[in-house]
Amino acid sequence: MPKVTIFPDERVLARTLAAQIVEAVAQKPDIVLGLPTGRTPIRLYHELGAMHAKGQADFSRVTTFNLDEFLGVPPEHPGSYRAFMQEHLFSRVNIPDSQIHLLNGVAPDPLAECIRYERAIAAAGGLDLQLLGIGTNGHIGFNEPARELTGSTHRVLLKPSTRHSNAALFGGNEENVPREALSMGMATILRARRILLIATGKSKAACIERAAHGPITTRMPASFLQLHRDMELVLDEAAASKLSRS
Ligand code: PGA
Repeated sequence: MPKVTIFPDERVLARTLAAQIVEAVAQKPDIVLGLPTGRTPIRLYHELGAMHAKGQADFSRVTTFNLDEFLGVPPEHPGSYRAFMQEHLFSRVNIPDSQIHLLNGVAPDPLAECIRYERAIAAAGGLDLQLLGIGTNGHIGFNEPARELTGSTHRVLLKPSTRHSNAALFGGNEENVPREALSMGMATILRARRILLIATGKSKAACIERAAHGPITTRMPASFLQLHRDMELVLDEAAASKLSRS
């Protein structure tokens, strides 16, 4: 059974989790973090920024690897996950640029880029703490439900539902959302020493129950997290509302 922590609302969740992450950084200043994008971690990132501004957190030795990036979107494009991270986290804390890693969506050879990324994670000593969001369809990173899943960092075709939920980054028009992306694979994620999956809101309640207690299936990529030794679901009441509390 995964460990589950439930908070009354998003604000308390973000504040408590930020304090836990700052504590983890204090314990291991050169921690390697795996980071998600999406609406879910925004409050958390802003809390980390606020703690840094108050002198409560030093990220100067932290290394980060983001989960995924759109293919064909340059880092400086406002719709890129690089730009998202810059806005919501990197501009607010003191992680040196050289310690920030994202997949390059415009790398001339996407396959070589995926191999480079896996090697960079390994060279950093692996991921100490991977933060994850979850798609309503059960995806983690851009590992979409499918007949088969890929272990290592790879090129993916995005589901229409995923393109729809990313439309806001591309002028509200899902037709402008790239059809492909690069993503850490399931094994890349599962090799992290500790995983925190964050979900808020009632739209996530059904996939959280399936991920936590349903069968382990490629149709629900997050269900593979049940195999991890140190995985915790960090939820608000709404996301936890369908969880069988045994
Ligand atoms: P969200 O996305 O945080 O915007 O809900 C999560 C995800 O798709 O992984």
